[in-house]
Amino acid sequence: MLKDRLIAAEKIGQIVSTLADEIDADLEGRDPVFICVLKGAVYFFTALTQKLHRDVVVDFIQASSYGATTESSGTVTLIKDVTVDIAGKDVYVVEDIVDTGLTLADVVALLKARHPRTVQVVALLSKPSRRKVEIPLDFLGLEIEDHFVVGYGLDFAERFRNLPEIWDLVPEPEGT
Ligand code: IMP
Repeated sequence: MLKDRLIAAEKIGQIVSTLADEIDADLEGRDPVFICVLKGAVYFFTALTQKLHRDVVVDFIQASSYGATTESSGTVTLIKDVTVDIAGKDVYVVEDIVDTGLTLADVVALLKARHPRTVQVVALLSKPSRRKVEIPLDFLGLEIEDHFVVGYGLDFAERFRNLPEIWDLVPEPEGT
């Protein structure tokens, strides 16, 4: 079921370090709250925030996922909300992968309604060819082609999240 190893653990580490350096430089003068989009971003989120050179507030939000398919349903439901007050804060939304952009667009709109000072998006991966809504990615690790990928937090039907590297997944045909 797992096809090719697309991104090795060492390469992921380099990408996360580069992003942390960029964000460190951006943090000057800010009052930051880092929000992890559960569950997929959790490995990326912990690695990234631990590499920052100042303390930051962290929180978690969860929107609906694909379930057991590799296609977005196009309807996003909030499962878990943040618990900190983000009014007047500088919010960094940390996402594992941006595919159609629908999830992130909804999450960003929901957060902006709470009057933060700024909202920026940090994404480990992006599949630009799949985009349905344009969403600015302020900090991006890597663009990939239209592959369904798993590992480093990314799942297929809740499997493969704990793989330390990122794999290209090919689902088995029905009935096998
Ligand atoms: P979007 O709303 O279509 O942009 O999808 C965003 C969410 O779908 C991500 O946060 C992931 O949880 C999930 N997702 C999108 N592409 C993949 C993938 O290739 N592998 C695993 N999960 C994915």
